[in-house]
Amino acid sequence: MPDKESRRDFLKLAGSLSAGLMLGAAGGCTTDAKTPSKAPKPTGTSAAALTVEPLDTVRIAMLGVGDRGSQHLDKLIQFKHVQIIAIADPYEAAVNKAKKFCTDAGRAAPTLYTNGDHDYKKLLQRDDIDAVFISTPWRWHCPQGVETMLAGKHAFIEVPMALTVDELWQLVDTCEKTQRHCMMLENVNFGRDELLALNLCRRGVLGDLTHAEAGYIHDLRYQMHDFDHGTGSWRTDYHTKENGNLYPTHGLGPVAQYMNIDRTDDRFHSIVSMSSPALGRQKFAKENFPPDHPRNQAKYISGDMSTSIIKTHLGRTVMIQWDTATPRPYSRHNLIQGTNGVFAGFPTRLALQGRGSYHQWTQGDAIQEVYDEFEHPLWKRIGEEATRAGGHGGMDYAMTFRIIECLRKGLPMDQNVYEGATWSAVRPLSAWSVAHGGQPTQFPDFTRDQWQSTSPLTVIS
Ligand SMILES: NC(=O)c1ccc[n+]([C@@H]2O[C@H](COP(=O)([O-])OP(=O)(O)OC[C@H]3O[C@@H](n4cnc5c(N)ncnc54)[C@H](O)[C@@H]3O)[C@@H](O)[C@H]2O)c1
Repeated sequence: MPDKESRRDFLKLAGSLSAGLMLGAAGGCTTDAKTPSKAPKPTGTSAAALTVEPLDTVRIAMLGVGDRGSQHLDKLIQFKHVQIIAIADPYEAAVNKAKKFCTDAGRAAPTLYTNGDHDYKKLLQRDDIDAVFISTPWRWHCPQGVETMLAGKHAFIEVPMALTVDELWQLVDTCEKTQRHCMMLENVNFGRDELLALNLCRRGVLGDLTHAEAGYIHDLRYQMHDFDHGTGSWRTDYHTKENGNLYPTHGLGPVAQYMNIDRTDDRFHSIVSMSSPALGRQKFAKENFPPDHPRNQAKYISGDMSTSIIKTHLGRTVMIQWDTATPRPYSRHNLIQGTNGVFAGFPTRLALQGRGSYHQWTQGDAIQEVYDEFEHPLWKRIGEEATRAGGHGGMDYAMTFRIIECLRKGLPMDQNVYEGATWSAVRPLSAWSVAHGGQPTQFPDFTRDQWQSTSPLTVIS
């Protein structure tokens, strides 16, 4: 039986060999202008473990208080060291509701910026704001994130962090230049099961990690009924323009942290992607809208099921899927596989060598013993209040708790800008691969070769 070091050497060798073979087979993993493999020249210093001055009170502004922004507000307001200073959103009904939410909770009324799509620029000129939560439609994430940091404020940006590789570089460069936090709000990394799996990996229980499966499978066709306002009013259109994995980060973020991607051990090397036919939304439109309705006139091109495989530098594999167009049970897969066993989600299961007999794994009521033994220390500390506060089973509260804690203690965020960029890059890279017959394309190294010197996310206690 090889020892741990030699197994790791083998994985490294296998990784470089398979990466080389992939390059050869594809005639070179070239990328087009939208997926540059060369990093732009750095204009600042690494933000991998960025620490900034601790804040006693965290003064927050919100850009976008629709569905997700109001969920953030609901969590933020539960922390006594948080003040909601200002809100920008052109939709007055949403803003007024958010303001009332603050005052009903006994908080000061935030200043409102409702004068069109660009009124947030005025908000950013204020000098009494530390951090900005950006929960706007996808096309605004990059410009608003960049402008937030240039205005000297920390940017917390909803998922995905941006839409193209060029936009992701803009966020990375601005974060490095301004030394302001730029964190993607990937709440799923703070879920109970995801933290438990992280703990299993950090404690070496699963052995050497070889493979993961991630996904976002969620029937969201009902959003096509949104027109003037609401998520579906802007999100549906993207299904007529892009064919790839449009929403990769919920499933991918956690498994990337299990595998220490962009942190010491490994990085994503390349991706291949294929899409199934795009039938679900067309069928839904036909069944729900008259023939001459814009929803029926539209041509949906995003394949109902997008499947990608990522190859890492060490030769590990990550299968990642996305489907929001099919009546199918919800899943993020959340599967992590090592030489000693597998932890999987939906439903939660653990198969471990030496635990139970061959062909047996732990699930159902028996999974409680896994929680008892391996519960993540952060969940032990705040799990009860997180569950009570709610928000996707408590993960939203746990994420907010950690953001505020890190800001108040001057600690690095639990997700750095490079992780947000790498996870979000699956969207444009998968679309590139689909458009090129499933050919592999390379991931940009957003860390600019700093991933090996970046510490893994610790098991926060
Ligand atoms: N992490 C999660 O669990 C989760 C869940 C839902 C949505 N999201 C993400 O949250 C973001 C927002 O989605 P949503 O469902 O809340 O959409 P939404 O349409 O309900 O809300 C978006 C809000 O942004 C406002 N807005 C539009 N342009 C603006 C601008 N220029 N400046 C300020 N405000 C502007 C809109 O008026 C609207 O109120 C998306 O990126 C989505 O992917 C994340």
